[in-house]
Amino acid sequence: MAQVAKERGMYDFAPAADLAKPELYRQLADAAAALTEGEPDGVANMANVAALVWEYLPALNWAGFYRMVDGELVLGPFAGRPACIRIPLGKGVCGTAAQTGATQLVEDVHAFPGHIACDAASRSELVVPVVRDGAVIAVIDLDSPDLARFDAADAAGIEHLAALLAERI
Ligand code: SME
Repeated sequence: MAQVAKERGMYDFAPAADLAKPELYRQLADAAAALTEGEPDGVANMANVAALVWEYLPALNWAGFYRMVDGELVLGPFAGRPACIRIPLGKGVCGTAAQTGATQLVEDVHAFPGHIACDAASRSELVVPVVRDGAVIAVIDLDSPDLARFDAADAAGIEHLAALLAERI
């Protein structure tokens, strides 16, 4: 359906109401696959996927990318408020995900040592590395003003999205 919408020049992707998380993430992945299909520009693809995540997932106050550039994370396309631009490896939730290559699911950011508070409203966070040829090339970062907003189903859904994007950003 998403592919048909794109071929018709329609970009009004939106999820059906009240979907369980696995189905919501399946629809999000379909939309992301359709939007990025055949488009070689990584910035365009990250911008559209950040907008899709913002559109599909409730209770977020930030959704976007940090890219690995010369050994540190640099802000990429996102939806939400302006954010910190550079994050060293190992620093904060994003830098930890980038350094370890492991998803970071943080129920309470105030309890995460070294959390970088770009927005004081953020209470929980999910960061998933995007890995290509064994190297972290970016991270997908989601923030929520709600405590414990993210669970294993969110992590699995965003990990699937990251795998899909690894060759497209
Ligand atoms: N909180 C993140 C920094 C990025 S912003 O949330 C957009 C961190 O601790 O890495």
